[in-house]
Amino acid sequence: MPPIVSTPLRIGVLGAANIARGFCAGVAPSTRVKVTAIASRQAAKAEAFAREVGVGRWHGSYEALLADPAIDAIYNPLPNSMHAEWSIRAVEAGKHVLCEKPLCATGAEARAMFAAAERKGVRLVEAYPYRSQPQTIRLKELVASGAIGRVQIVRASFGINIADPKNIRWDAALAGGSLMDAGSYPVSLVRLVTGERPQRVHALARWSESQVDRSLVATMEFKSGALAQISCSFGTAYHRHALIAGESGAIETTYLNHPPAGGPPVLQLWRGMRSDNISLETIETTPGNGFLAEAESFQRLVAEGPAAWNGATPEESIDIALTLEAMLKSARSGTMVEVGA
Ligand SMILES: NC(=O)c1ccc[n+]([C@@H]2O[C@H](COP(=O)([O-])OP(=O)(O)OC[C@H]3O[C@@H](n4cnc5c(N)ncnc54)[C@H](OP(=O)(O)O)[C@@H]3O)[C@@H](O)[C@H]2O)c1
Repeated sequence: MPPIVSTPLRIGVLGAANIARGFCAGVAPSTRVKVTAIASRQAAKAEAFAREVGVGRWHGSYEALLADPAIDAIYNPLPNSMHAEWSIRAVEAGKHVLCEKPLCATGAEARAMFAAAERKGVRLVEAYPYRSQPQTIRLKELVASGAIGRVQIVRASFGINIADPKNIRWDAALAGGSLMDAGSYPVSLVRLVTGERPQRVHALARWSESQVDRSLVATMEFKSGALAQISCSFGTAYHRHALIAGESGAIETTYLNHPPAGGPPVLQLWRGMRSDNISLETIETTPGNGFLAEAESFQRLVAEGPAAWNGATPEESIDIALTLEAMLKSARSGTMVEVGA
């Protein structure tokens, strides 16, 4: 029997993470969700962060947040290596969980997380704000409706520049690295548009002194015959885009988490199979805050069930985790790796 939840859904934040600032600000206008408490490993930090983001309740330990009866759900923005442990502990405490990407560090962890949620009758999902954006919802509809025919080739990139050597993303012990961080986005987009887990992957990486991948490129092979390439980096200027090419058309997207400064998020849709007989349509979509869209979809998942959730399904998240794990293994070994083997 799922726990009874309140309206709005009362969310507790696990850790005074930088991303939690954006999350709290993004969801503030919502009537469906309310950030109700903040937890930090230090009480003073929890209080300062809660005051900064306008939340009236705080806890000096993660355990205290999980035991708080005034919380229905947990937002988990801890370092990647801690996602599985603390999401499972939240689930065991009867809380629904919105866990930051990447869901966890391995496929086995992903399976354990969803098994725990199922046992406790609560919802657990992986947070990718772009999945709840109209830009991506429209992309999904176009691909599903056959607008470009069967998907054959996908190319997707996301690169950023991380200059601070103390950033958790450079820490191998915290499951850092460009693939786990930026790379989880293109891998998740490929999973979305192909509808399949890749069978095999082959990756190449450039490594940091701290032994995480600074940049990584990978190819993916699918049972359907589709092929995909992804790239990610901590050493480039910001770039984020994808090309999805089908048998009868192609779509370009920036698969944005949040609205761009320079205008509405668009999809470029090419229809037609020959260069002398092709049409280009620019589809404008409504900009909106990705955290807000994601959190409200999460609330509807809890209140109404899986059909109301527009983010990654458990099956997709398990496939993403297995793919990330296989790509890292391939980059380290220099060989092609079977996904999920
Ligand atoms: N969806 C998105 O758009 C998006 C964007 C950025 C990041 N993220 C994800 O969000 C997560 C957090 O990223 P972030 O940049 O916000 O991280 P961050 O600012 O470094 O925050 C991580 C928090 O984790 C807690 N923590 C617990 N143990 C820790 C340890 N051993 N070392 C460091 N911190 C520890 C700390 O909170 P206390 O000290 O308060 O306990 C810290 O504030 C990552 O999983 C990342 O992939 C998602």
